[in-house]
Amino acid sequence: MTTIAGKTVVLTGASRGIGVFIARALAKKQATIIGISRSQEGLDKICAEVDALGGKAIGICFDISNVEELPILLQKIERLTGSVDILVNNAGIEIYRAFPDYSLADLQSVLLVNLLAAMELTRLVLPSMLNQTSGHIVNMSSLASKKGHPYDSIYSASKAGLLMWSDAVRQELAGTGVRISSICPGYVSQQGMLADTGVPVPSVGGVSTPADVARAVVRAIEQNQAEVMVNGNPITENLTKLLFAVEQFFPRFGDVVNQWIGIPKLNKMRIENQIRAENSRKKSSLVK
Ligand SMILES: NC(=O)c1ccc[n+]([C@@H]2O[C@H](COP(=O)([O-])OP(=O)(O)OC[C@H]3O[C@@H](n4cnc5c(N)ncnc54)[C@H](OP(=O)(O)O)[C@@H]3O)[C@@H](O)[C@H]2O)c1
Repeated sequence: MTTIAGKTVVLTGASRGIGVFIARALAKKQATIIGISRSQEGLDKICAEVDALGGKAIGICFDISNVEELPILLQKIERLTGSVDILVNNAGIEIYRAFPDYSLADLQSVLLVNLLAAMELTRLVLPSMLNQTSGHIVNMSSLASKKGHPYDSIYSASKAGLLMWSDAVRQELAGTGVRISSICPGYVSQQGMLADTGVPVPSVGGVSTPADVARAVVRAIEQNQAEVMVNGNPITENLTKLLFAVEQFFPRFGDVVNQWIGIPKLNKMRIENQIRAENSRKKSSLVK
């Protein structure tokens, strides 16, 4: 069992949603948290909360889609804390569209934040972890990595890429003392990118809370778990695994299941809500 106490954790996407719950859970385990996101306000809030819990957290405002500048971010972190023991690649974005309606900028932004930034941050922290023969990388994937989600195809692609890249690197790291875990949450209620869409989650299948996901991150680090599914409860998790296994043989059966669950219909509703929210953001920034 790996001890988290006293470790320095770099956590991307710490300003809101699931990241806040991960920060709290790791702070309770007495880790020092270096939270990264674009919003200083969100970082200040979680850092104050961790301080109040008796822990230590530092927020660094940084847009990780600027992948060429990630070495500067890493240098800044190392100046503040020394080497990084644990990296949690949690930041993610989602853009709902029918595939032909995506712009090139949409494709690039999702792949940069969800996949390339995680790869580049890992590439930058690995040499020091390998020197110390210890360290842990946690990558936040999704159940959308296991079966494509229509009208959210670029997100599914980014999460499948993250999962498969982690799987390959885990095998490269065998015996080095450096570990890598993937977390695959299904629908997450209460807070986070899905709850923010304002569209209900399908009524069948598992639903988890952000706290469940945070607990899974802690467990993955402590118990060196390769891949963790978070989807409601052990029964719904095992049924989902069984379903994915059957879908390996019959992909079109999986399409029918997704239709039956209501994923295409709900994602079409999310397109409309997202466009409406974007338009009102644009309008209010014009007024200012
Ligand atoms: N919620 C779900 O249902 C669900 C299910 C499965 C997997 N996941 C995964 O869980 C992770 C967290 O999701 P969430 O629901 O907590 O999402 P969220 O509430 O939208 O939060 C996303 C976080 O990522 C940060 N972020 C986004 N773009 C960034 C950028 N360019 N640079 C730095 N930080 C950036 C955001 O901070 P700023 O905006 O301040 O930069 C925020 O802290 C994601 O990887 C997501 O794919 C979520």
